[in-house]
Amino acid sequence: MPKLIPKAQVLVVGGTGGIGGGFVRQWLADDRISRVFATYRDRDRAADLFALQAEAGDRLVCLACDPTIEANIVAMIERITEQTDRLHAIVHCVGMLHEATHTPPISPEKSLRHINRDQLLRYFEINSIPTVLLAKHLQGLFKHRDPSVFATISAKVGSIGDNQLGGWYGYRASKAALNMLVRNIAIELRRSRPETIVVALHPGTTDTGLSQPFQGNVPTEKLFSIDRTVSQLLNVIEGLTTKDSGEFFSWDGSRLPW
Ligand SMILES: NC(=O)c1ccc[n+]([C@@H]2O[C@H](COP(=O)([O-])OP(=O)(O)OC[C@H]3O[C@@H](n4cnc5c(N)ncnc54)[C@H](OP(=O)(O)O)[C@@H]3O)[C@@H](O)[C@H]2O)c1
Repeated sequence: MPKLIPKAQVLVVGGTGGIGGGFVRQWLADDRISRVFATYRDRDRAADLFALQAEAGDRLVCLACDPTIEANIVAMIERITEQTDRLHAIVHCVGMLHEATHTPPISPEKSLRHINRDQLLRYFEINSIPTVLLAKHLQGLFKHRDPSVFATISAKVGSIGDNQLGGWYGYRASKAALNMLVRNIAIELRRSRPETIVVALHPGTTDTGLSQPFQGNVPTEKLFSIDRTVSQLLNVIEGLTTKDSGEFFSWDGSRLPW
């Protein structure tokens, strides 16, 4: 980090996801952290998170929240503020690349022939907008003067400068929009909350449900386990200083072009 201060309180948005679940597990194993808040959107899909909660007791607080719905975010933050007035780290891990349950099912567009307005909107609804809604409502929990970080998991394919391959229109564009929102949030919070670092992070290709259909062409050494990805991202997060706010970092700590 801001190195985490003793008794830090942290929030994982999307604690049921592959990478989000990894953050919950690694933060629970960290003695410096007094409490981990973690969100889920559907209790039926949150069995692993609630199993962790059964072991962790009060150190893990599970909160219902679909961050595409602003009222859910407001209710989730009300529950946090009943318990504390401050957070030291937030990692937002919600994102979508394909969605079989959507009608019609969503998979990334390979060419202009596949462009569909509703699909594009769905990518922005899930991948871009929740971050700025979270920042809007969570900023009160960063009013303290302790070091703090708000990290959003983006994707390198959202880098406009790095795009040489094309394709994946909606996913790429929604992550590029996310990156602009992160930069804007960082600029605004730099004035009002100078201790808060706001960054976008690329996790590297990670073995989760999101990447699963696209892992065929990924060399084994470039497909990270969830634990490896989360350890790498925690290293990046803990190495950040306030000068890094508003930047886009890869899993190895290098800066990515916008
Ligand atoms: N895995 C990779 O290789 C990779 C690479 C680059 C970037 N990323 C980014 O890393 C982040 C985490 O991805 P992951 O790999 O951990 O994927 P994942 O295991 O599929 O987790 C996705 C998370 O997003 C939530 N989510 C998905 N669709 C949603 C919707 N319609 N409404 C609300 N929440 C929804 C999921 O909630 P449920 O559990 O309720 O479904 C889950 O918490 C994403 O932003 C992704 O774009 C991943």
